[in-house]
Amino acid sequence: MATVDQTAVTTGTKKACVIGGTGNLASILIKHLLQSGYKVNTTVRDPESEKKMAHLKVLQQLGDLKIFKADLTDEGSFTSPISGCEYVFHIATPISFTSQDPEKDMIKPAVQGVINVLKSCLKSNSIKRVIYTSSAAAVSINNLSEPGLVMTEENWSDVDFLTKEKPFNWGYPVSKTLAEKEAYKFAEENKIDLVTVVPALIAGNSLLSDPPSSLSLSMSLITGKEMHLSGLKEMQKLSGSISFIHVDDLARAHMFLAEKETASGRYICCYYNTNVPEIADFLRRRYTKYNVLSEFEECLSSAKLTLSSEKLIKEGFRFEYGISEMYDEMTEYFESKGLIKPKVS
Ligand SMILES: NC(=O)c1ccc[n+]([C@@H]2O[C@H](COP(=O)([O-])OP(=O)(O)OC[C@H]3O[C@@H](n4cnc5c(N)ncnc54)[C@H](OP(=O)(O)O)[C@@H]3O)[C@@H](O)[C@H]2O)c1
Repeated sequence: MATVDQTAVTTGTKKACVIGGTGNLASILIKHLLQSGYKVNTTVRDPESEKKMAHLKVLQQLGDLKIFKADLTDEGSFTSPISGCEYVFHIATPISFTSQDPEKDMIKPAVQGVINVLKSCLKSNSIKRVIYTSSAAAVSINNLSEPGLVMTEENWSDVDFLTKEKPFNWGYPVSKTLAEKEAYKFAEENKIDLVTVVPALIAGNSLLSDPPSSLSLSMSLITGKEMHLSGLKEMQKLSGSISFIHVDDLARAHMFLAEKETASGRYICCYYNTNVPEIADFLRRRYTKYNVLSEFEECLSSAKLTLSSEKLIKEGFRFEYGISEMYDEMTEYFESKGLIKPKVS
């Protein structure tokens, strides 16, 4: 069995529930919580799956981590894992890039899921705050064309445009936008303290055995995998930029926003705004040992917009990881899995 660094482990009594422990971000957040002395309950859909449970079994070496079975579509399944917790991190989301029925596969379960989780929070008298993970896809997708747009927490993706035009993977941004709006409506009606985190594309290391889709997109300029490469180009076309956040900074931001009393509303979490041709240039210069793709006629060499994390920074949060660390960790992860190889000279 793999081991984890136990140097930072402390003992504490704070307790949090992380919804969706098999996910990439969720697993890194669980690691940070345990290392900070939290007791953690996490929910998974399939506790019998050895592959999906492997990293959680390793994380149990770090502290008090309990695993519960729950599904976003199963009302009441979150009541037991949430009971007795101070914070709930709702991270799970239904994602299907190949869905023929996005309404059924992503939009309905995401909206139903957030209400189910919040209803369970209402039943518990221990919850101080709920932290819901939204997405930049709920902020930046619009059909505006003026240059130099700076997106802030005031911006919401245009659901009418998305449902009318149905661009590539339209169901995902619609699901994230509607679920976040429903979360605020329910929280306001029921006086729940809700903060939402709005991440850019997640980059950096992973505890999962298979590469998470966001890492596969980011690495597609080296792997050359057509499906992921076209996904990356579509992302720039639709979202207006390729904007990154390191997974450890994102996990730290979740904890920071849970514990910071003055935090309220949405927080964009993005460190680096760029575009596909610029990433390719960067990769070619930094990693001379790999072949990096270079044909992107259809991608603009400047992003249409940038995502601003000013609100998060003003709240007192500091980012620790730049684009070099993000790609160093991703290339190391992909090389360790045999998914990229140095070029033969
Ligand atoms: N990845 C990014 O670049 C990115 C960018 C912005 C925002 N976000 C947001 O950040 C969060 C985490 O992203 P991630 O990339 O770490 O996710 P991920 O690795 O794809 O994990 C998704 C999680 O959701 C769970 N899930 C899906 N449908 C479910 C259902 N019906 N009931 C319960 N659980 C369900 C999955 O469980 P199974 O393992 O059982 O399938 C999995 O644990 C998501 O909310 C995502 O929208 C991600």
